[in-house]
Amino acid sequence: MTQAQLVVVANRLPVDRVVDDSGEPSWRRSPGGLVTALEPVMRRADGAWVGWPGQADVDVDPFEFEGTHLVPVRLSSDDVEKYYEGMSNDTFWPLYHDVIAEPRYRRVWWDAYVRVNRRFAEAAAAVAADGAEVWVQDYQLQLVPRMLREMRPDLTIGYFHHIPFPAYGLYSQLPWRRQVLDGLLGADVIGFQRVADAGNFARAVRRVLRFDTRSTGISVPNPDGTTRTALAKAFPISIDAASYVELAQRPDIQARAAEIRRELGNPRKILLGVDRLDYTKGIRHRLKAFGELLADGRANVEDVTLVQVASPSRERVQAYMQLRDEIELTVGRINGDRDTMGHTAIRYLHQAYPREEMVALFLAADVMLVTALRDGMNLVAKEYVAARVDNRGVLVLSEFAGAADELPSAVRINPHDIDGMKDAIMRAIEMPPAEQGRRMRALRKRVMEHDVARWSRSFLSALDDAKAAKRRSDARRASA
Ligand code: G6P
Repeated sequence: MTQAQLVVVANRLPVDRVVDDSGEPSWRRSPGGLVTALEPVMRRADGAWVGWPGQADVDVDPFEFEGTHLVPVRLSSDDVEKYYEGMSNDTFWPLYHDVIAEPRYRRVWWDAYVRVNRRFAEAAAAVAADGAEVWVQDYQLQLVPRMLREMRPDLTIGYFHHIPFPAYGLYSQLPWRRQVLDGLLGADVIGFQRVADAGNFARAVRRVLRFDTRSTGISVPNPDGTTRTALAKAFPISIDAASYVELAQRPDIQARAAEIRRELGNPRKILLGVDRLDYTKGIRHRLKAFGELLADGRANVEDVTLVQVASPSRERVQAYMQLRDEIELTVGRINGDRDTMGHTAIRYLHQAYPREEMVALFLAADVMLVTALRDGMNLVAKEYVAARVDNRGVLVLSEFAGAADELPSAVRINPHDIDGMKDAIMRAIEMPPAEQGRRMRALRKRVMEHDVARWSRSFLSALDDAKAAKRRSDARRASA
């Protein structure tokens, strides 16, 4: 049995199951930034990754993949329905994104969430070496830190929250608000995207649990009456920026960008939106603003096209089905009213694309629209910036995306203010090249310097510090 010094626990494994033409299944590395960032770290540390293979009712034995030991956790279709689609994506997701959609509080979902979190914790406990570090990821697994600490007090535990942590007035709706805070506080280091998220968390801890908090430290009582300090702090996540630069410099991808422009009928300006089809992304607000610009005659379809890539997501959750219907109705209406034989207002693509095609799209787009109503970070904003090796293009960025804290040189918008958003889009369309260059250079400096490798290094170094502190206090206790 493998015993790993570093264990990552995430809802999903870092691989996707693919079936080739002959029907043979195999595994392919998933495209996400987290996976790319952790790959070298996992290789060095002989790491293990505990996660769900992404399909219900499949049994897969642990296996090695590109230097990482993968430990699949089985979810039945009942678990997928209650723990993943229900509690994770129909309760926590809307609640933590400021109740843009109404969260549903169902006790049978909570029971499944507890049960499945325990299964992940047990799998991590079984694979972690003595004194190992375990890094738990995201809102699907908020109870794992506490469960793991009880099973294995020798471990040092980190948790990173990839999505927003809401203000107390919203968080307090959660019937299980105490259990979730207690679950998270099983960790030694609790990471958030923004300073504001860490602040919201600390406030909830003060209000619900009455623990003392000071700056980024939270005093957590131990079972023996002593206290320890958990660190709760912002570690804004990023992307593998160099890999986007590399793709953007490839002649075939640049040729593809030119081809995309031609295929769209060579409009003067291309606007681009790239999102998972999710109600947090503000896609409807964006369509409304663009539709009105066309209706007002401030823009016309010969000149300006909006490409909207909306990749399929969580398709069995009601709120997502409804959103898809609304978006497709809106796109159909706008195109029906505005299209000509040769030009379309909105090229809508309900599909997912490989990274190469995305970078070609980024290079073809004059204006990138990130209009999220609430978003933990929004990595697409950073991907667009990294891909613009020519220092051209304009990023329009919602102030409700975590990325706005780091990217002040973007054109900022409040997506609820449709008139303001329309003006910002026009300003982006008309922005002179010199101003585009000035802004893009500042954006690129930030993204290139703060990439995902730096993010994982800084989190893991906080975890190393916590481990050293734990050793010191264990030694003190042993000698007392
Ligand atoms: C967000 C979450 C991730 C999640 C991803 C895709 O980025 O923070 O934890 O994996 O969305 O969603 P899915 O439900 O398909 O895993």
